[in-house]
Amino acid sequence: MEPSKDYLFKYKGFYFSLETSPEYLDSLEDFEIKDSDIFIATYPKSGTVWTQNILSLIIHEGHRNGTENMETLDRIPWLEYNIKNAAYANLPSPRVFATHLPYYLVPRDLRNKRARVIYVTRNPKDVMVSYYHFSKFICTLEEVPDFNIFMERFLAGKVLASSWLDHVEGWYSHAEDFNILFLTYEEMKKDLRSAVLKICNFLGKKLSEEELDSVVRQATFENMRKDPRANYENLPENLAEKNKGSFLRKGTVGDWKNTMTVAQNERFDKVLTEKMKTLPIKFTWDINNM
Ligand code: A3P
Repeated sequence: MEPSKDYLFKYKGFYFSLETSPEYLDSLEDFEIKDSDIFIATYPKSGTVWTQNILSLIIHEGHRNGTENMETLDRIPWLEYNIKNAAYANLPSPRVFATHLPYYLVPRDLRNKRARVIYVTRNPKDVMVSYYHFSKFICTLEEVPDFNIFMERFLAGKVLASSWLDHVEGWYSHAEDFNILFLTYEEMKKDLRSAVLKICNFLGKKLSEEELDSVVRQATFENMRKDPRANYENLPENLAEKNKGSFLRKGTVGDWKNTMTVAQNERFDKVLTEKMKTLPIKFTWDINNM
């Protein structure tokens, strides 16, 4: 079954929500990149907001010490959803953008190794379950109450951002075109401090031990959940149904086991897990294996 046109449209083989337009997406090819720009690229539900918050904490002292109160969406705008693009030019350097774009739709200069990209992946069963819950909460996504139907759509790539495998495979197999750091959600979960250090090294940013401690403390699930900016609590009502969930939901590894049946897991493995074997990533499916 095709996704409803009330929610998604296809542009160059990739599903977008109606908050953007083909004309705007066309314009991104020529988007003016600064060498200092940083792009967080992800498939949805892989840890985007988490990485956005980590970068805000690393880069902006005022975010870290609480002297500035800026919404995450203003601090790190969404590249392909032209909500506030008039303000892009005025963002302080380094500018940071978030994107779910596949590798082949990003601005040309990014593909010429200008600017930095941080690409975060997460095991796709947890991605899918997170996505399922998120669809209930975000008004611009179609709510699919039956998990079985949602899973079939996910496996067929008939959801916003299309196929998980194509997204991840595309970015990994074109890594050489980019100045890119790959991270996984699970490694961030296992050792947040090391992940923050990896990001600092990639950015060439030196933090003191105290600053580092402060970033790590404020980027834990529990502390981010308490922070309305980090939890995206100030989204407009036409975007999120707050009584139906929150951005920071469970934040664990292996939550898929609480939703997927044995049969669904077998079906998933048959369709996707086999194809994943060619990916150069070792996925962690269970918190006990970390
Ligand atoms: P769950 O729905 O499994 O809880 P994205 O930002 O790409 O949409 O990803 C959202 C997922 O990242 C959600 O997963 C959310 O809880 C999780 N997440 C966000 N911040 C986190 C943190 N500090 N630690 C662990 N998980 C986090």
